[in-house]
Amino acid sequence: MSTRIAVLVSGGGTNLQALIDARGKVLKSGEIVLVVSNVPGAYALERAKKAGIATETVVKKELGSQQAFEEKLMQVLDENKIDIIILAGFMTILTERFTSHYPKRILNVHPSLIPSFCGAGFYGLRVHQAVLDYGVKVTGATVHFVNEIPDGGEIIAQKAVEVLPGDTPETLQRRVMEQAEWILLPQAAEKVCSELKFIGRIGK
Ligand code: GAR
Repeated sequence: MSTRIAVLVSGGGTNLQALIDARGKVLKSGEIVLVVSNVPGAYALERAKKAGIATETVVKKELGSQQAFEEKLMQVLDENKIDIIILAGFMTILTERFTSHYPKRILNVHPSLIPSFCGAGFYGLRVHQAVLDYGVKVTGATVHFVNEIPDGGEIIAQKAVEVLPGDTPETLQRRVMEQAEWILLPQAAEKVCSELKFIGRIGK
């Protein structure tokens, strides 16, 4: 039986698309069965629907607190018997209450070479702006396990990408996505899913 994957998103969902496009190719040991957004109307939800994947929207503001938000997320994930959670542009921090429930079962893609340009406040275009402000000549992407430390879990895969003269945060983001994130995330997901087959599923 294949590993059941939930992908958590907040925005455009190009990393989700990379996972969808990898189905049956790079991603063979896991099945994307659910996409959860914390932002109503996120374009990633459209991508999921087009691919025939079930969607849920869980909004912190509507639930009133971080605790209620995380409890609802856990309920949805448990109801769908999710084995692996992939954060693909999921722009909210999860506390230990949530992360400790899924040790080595949550993956995140981050658009820099951790431990550079990561942690609280470093997300999306802000990461690439910080890279340009510092003047580093090489950046990249990292896929890592998620624990209670923001961007602090064990690294699964990394890929370097050149910063070019004249780059803007937008051009750099695009290059990091094309040359690193969209390749690395499906590969890392496959690695974790295939290894999980031998370890067993949550609660079993
Ligand atoms: C991606 O670059 C992802 O690495 C980044 O947000 C973008 C989401 O794009 N995530 C973070 O910064 C998390 N700290 P997408 O919605 O098109 O996949």
